[in-house]
Amino acid sequence: MNNIPNNNHRGGWGSRLGFVLAAAGSAVGLGNIWGFPTAVAQNGGGGFVLVYILCILLVALPVMLAEMVIGRAGERNPVGAMKHLKPGTPWYWIGVLGVVTGFVILSFYSVIAGWTVYYFIQAAGGALVVPEGVEDTAGYFGGLFGEMIANPGYEILFVAIFMLMTILIVAAGVRKGIERAVKIMMPMLAILLLALILRSVTLDGAGEGVRFYLIPNIEALNARAVTLALGQAFFSMSLGMGVMITYGSYLSKDECLPSSAGYVVATDSIIAILAGLIVFPVIFFMVAAHGVPLENLVAAGAGLVFVVFPQIMGELPGGDAATVLFGSAFFLLLVLAALTSAVSLLEVVVAHFVDDWKLPRKKAAWSAGVIIFFLAIPSALSFGAVGWLSEGGLLGISVFDLLYTLTFQIFLPLGALGLALFVGWGWGLEHASEEIRHSTPDFRLEKAWHIMIRYVAPVAIIVILLNQIHAILFG
Ligand code: PFF
Repeated sequence: MNNIPNNNHRGGWGSRLGFVLAAAGSAVGLGNIWGFPTAVAQNGGGGFVLVYILCILLVALPVMLAEMVIGRAGERNPVGAMKHLKPGTPWYWIGVLGVVTGFVILSFYSVIAGWTVYYFIQAAGGALVVPEGVEDTAGYFGGLFGEMIANPGYEILFVAIFMLMTILIVAAGVRKGIERAVKIMMPMLAILLLALILRSVTLDGAGEGVRFYLIPNIEALNARAVTLALGQAFFSMSLGMGVMITYGSYLSKDECLPSSAGYVVATDSIIAILAGLIVFPVIFFMVAAHGVPLENLVAAGAGLVFVVFPQIMGELPGGDAATVLFGSAFFLLLVLAALTSAVSLLEVVVAHFVDDWKLPRKKAAWSAGVIIFFLAIPSALSFGAVGWLSEGGLLGISVFDLLYTLTFQIFLPLGALGLALFVGWGWGLEHASEEIRHSTPDFRLEKAWHIMIRYVAPVAIIVILLNQIHAILFG
């Protein structure tokens, strides 16, 4: 009974390691290395980390398992899987929301990913070395960033390069494309991460940075921070839009689901927390060396990685060679993290085209990829290159911020709520448990998981969604 192959004409993972690496690759992305440390810095350090861990254990981990179960039982993309498991009911609209969310997230994600490719090339070519005679390094690197975002041709070119890499991997298939890519990229990512941490924690002022990062400041913890922590958890773990359904659908029936979900969640959390060990020591190095107010650095937000970081790299001990090395390693880390996540976003859309529209994989990957590339253009131009798309333009906020807020704060929590309700109440816990017990007869946390998915996760998500909507409407 345990050796039933999966819906084999769709292809499948060569091994469980391949699946776990791909799922972890999806989870570990810009959200970990850029998003998490920034969120921690802006919301009171260690206290936010604690709330984040709570959100993971109570909500994200149960939802992760729910998605994997739906995927493996449904053997299809989110739309097809839900139609298959609950035929003739409207539950599949949650899957539709997932596919739409995939389109939208990838359209703005590829813009930042394009910047990382641009910066990697710049760093490797020595552009992050401060030229002689330049006094105002902040102005200099601000200029570098400004030039990039003001130049529509450049931005679009780098989105195109990034999307091309993503399409090529997805078009090659689950085993020959995605699995092969993550087996090379994830170990590289781990090595780069460790090397960068070693460099960072041995800088002057590093200890203070680590203390700021990890010691809780309870006063800064408010309802807003809790809301952000849950949104961050969903985004960072790629939950709420069916990535784990799609990846789970390629998994064979004899692999243990709860431990797979555990590995993915643990890897993502550990890498997010470790990323802070690169970012905060560098920030405090800057504070110690230049007396720059901490608030200014923290408030830099997106600029932290693309403006503040390059500025410091030029001042690391070891001269120009160290700058080139640290800079290219850091941006390569971001490129790899972004690429393995983008692949999973595209795969959700492609699996839907392949399963439900019967398109061949290559055609599905190219058409979805090209549409997303065109959708990315307004986001790419909304950093000032085109006034009416940018902040203070026609919509009041930039297209990028609008899409980011909409998906991060509404679509993903809504999707996760739908998925929890589907497993807890719609499709039913008995069916879900049966699917898990196929491969894990002694699923010890079954009772706890039932309570989480049926009551705790839905209630937590509803409270937080209401809070988000209130904040969006009334400021
Ligand atoms: N988890 C990715 C990150 O942390 O950057 C982003 C992401 C990928 C979000 C896939 C959602 C998703 F479905």
